[in-house]
Amino acid sequence: MSTEPATQQRVALRPDLRIPAHVGVIMDGNGRWAQARGKPRSEGHVAGVKALRALVESCINYGIGHLTVFSFSSENWTRPKDEISFIFGLLRRFVASDLEKLHRNNVRVKIIGSRDGLDESLRRLIAEVEATTAMNTGLKLQVAFNYGGKAEITEAVQRVASLVAAGRLKPEDITEETISRALYTAGLPDPDIIIRTSGEQRFSNFLLWQSAYAELVFVDENWPDFNDAAFLRVLEDYSGRDRRYGGVEAQRR
Ligand code: FPP
Repeated sequence: MSTEPATQQRVALRPDLRIPAHVGVIMDGNGRWAQARGKPRSEGHVAGVKALRALVESCINYGIGHLTVFSFSSENWTRPKDEISFIFGLLRRFVASDLEKLHRNNVRVKIIGSRDGLDESLRRLIAEVEATTAMNTGLKLQVAFNYGGKAEITEAVQRVASLVAAGRLKPEDITEETISRALYTAGLPDPDIIIRTSGEQRFSNFLLWQSAYAELVFVDENWPDFNDAAFLRVLEDYSGRDRRYGGVEAQRR
């Protein structure tokens, strides 16, 4: 993949542009993008991977620390079997084609989500991607795959409950930090922005706990059409937001 910085045309950035530490993206509308062009849905997903590559490149160029993308939800299992296996194949192809360049560009990749329902070869592939890039210090890319926010919180609660049952933690010592540390995203900053494409305005079970104070940005483009210019418009929108975190004055974090 072309994640080398500065391969995209660079535009002059507004001096007041605020760069978020963590961007979350619900990549929606691949199917509609394809249908609008009389193509099979699978082509929409292929175009979606291209848009993901471009976004990774933009994030590297803008110095964004963390990017988390929703690529297969625990609810997506209700889709036709063919489409599910196509998306699983895409993850494999994405790794095969892009891992080396991601690594070369110092990107750390993590796959967050449940490992249940993933076959052994896919689990091995995920382990390989994570191990190869574990020491990288550039962009942290989280691919949410077989991910559901409620399931994530449920698993976290189970972990915390087993510590309590083992006598290693007192119920009154459980804090928000205890829960955060038990999530797949342990150690990551909470997302500053959640972007959803295709005009839909829902969370759809994405980063439910972590998004408590995220700025929400809904854009009309279907995911395959979401490019650097669209991302820059989102960053400009974000730069004008007044983040109060429940307080009274705008805070810059
Ligand atoms: C949403 O569009 C997209 C998905 C559920 C799959 C997302 C996958 C990619 C963007 C490719 C990247 C994937 C990997 C594995 C790296 P939709 O199918 O819900 O579109 P629709 O709402 O128009 O039907």
